[in-house]
Amino acid sequence: MINGKWAVITGASSGIGAEFAKLYSARGFSVVLAARREERLKKLAGELTTPSRIVVCDLSEIDGCKKLYESVKDLDVDLLINNAGFGAVGRFETIPLKDQLKMLDVNCRAVAALTHMFLNDFKQKRRGTILNVASSAGLLPGGPDMAMYYATKSFVVSLTSALAEEQRAMRSGVRIAALCPGPVDTEFNDVANVKFALKGITAAYCAKYAAYSLEKGEVIIVPEDKMKAAVFASRLVPRSLAVRVTAHQQRKKQ
Ligand SMILES: NC(=O)c1ccc[n+]([C@@H]2O[C@H](COP(=O)([O-])OP(=O)(O)OC[C@H]3O[C@@H](n4cnc5c(N)ncnc54)[C@H](OP(=O)(O)O)[C@@H]3O)[C@@H](O)[C@H]2O)c1
Repeated sequence: MINGKWAVITGASSGIGAEFAKLYSARGFSVVLAARREERLKKLAGELTTPSRIVVCDLSEIDGCKKLYESVKDLDVDLLINNAGFGAVGRFETIPLKDQLKMLDVNCRAVAALTHMFLNDFKQKRRGTILNVASSAGLLPGGPDMAMYYATKSFVVSLTSALAEEQRAMRSGVRIAALCPGPVDTEFNDVANVKFALKGITAAYCAKYAAYSLEKGEVIIVPEDKMKAAVFASRLVPRSLAVRVTAHQQRKKQ
C-alpha cells in the first residue's frame, strides 16, 4: 500500500475535474487522474506539484469503472470525486438512444459502481470522502429539452443524500456529498450543444467552493446564491409549473 493522501478524480481531463486536481494537489494530495483523453491527462499531470497517476478509462463501460478501481488498489485513497459526466440538448426522442443510454451509463451507473467499490474500502478504514458531481438540474423537478440529463442528475442527488444519511447514522467515518452547480464555464456546453442563459461561474471557483463546503460537512452543495434561490422557488410552486419555468429557461439556451 502506497501511503499518503490520494484523491481519485474522474473526468480530470477538463473543466471542473481538472480544477479539482489542481486544487487538491496544491493542498498536498497525490492525485489519480481518470478520463479517456490521455494527452490531456499527461499535460495536467505535468503541471501538478504532487505525485499523480493517470488511468485512461471509458466510464460508460462497467469494465472501465473496474479498471479504474483495480488501478488504484495499491494506493491509500482518501477522496473519490465522481465528476465525469455529460449532457445533450434536444427533444428526448430526437437524440439517438445509444447516446441517451451512454449518458445514463456515465452519469449514473459509473457513479453508483465507483461509489459502491470505494465505499466498502473507506468503511473498512473508517475514513474517506466521496463527492459526487451532480448539478442544480438534479434539484429541479425536470428539464424539458434536456430531460435525460436532468433525470440522471436527480438520480445522483437522490443516491447521494440517502447514502450520506446511511453513513452518518452508522457513524462509519465516511462522508458523502453531492455538488450541484448551476452553469459553469467548461467544455460541457460544446459537448451538450447548449448555450447558458445565465453567466457561468469558473470551474476553479466551483472546485474551491465545493472543497470548502465539504470541509464544513455540507451534503448538498450549491455554489451560487442565484441557483439556491431558483431551487428554493421551484419547491414553492406546483411541479407542473416548475417544469414549465425550467422549459422556458432551457429554450433560452438553444
Ligand atoms: N459545466 C456546467 O455548467 C455544469 C453544471 C452542473 C454540473 N456539471 C457537471 O460537472 C461534471 C464535469 O463537467 P464539466 O462541466 O467539467 O464538463 P467538461 O469540461 O466537458 O468535462 C467532462 C469530463 O468528463 C469526462 N468524461 C465524459 N465522458 C466520459 C467517459 N465516457 N469516460 C470517462 N470520462 C468521461 C471528460 O473526459 P474525456 O472526454 O477525456 O473522457 C471530461 O474530463 C459533469 O458531471 C457535469 O454534468 C457541469
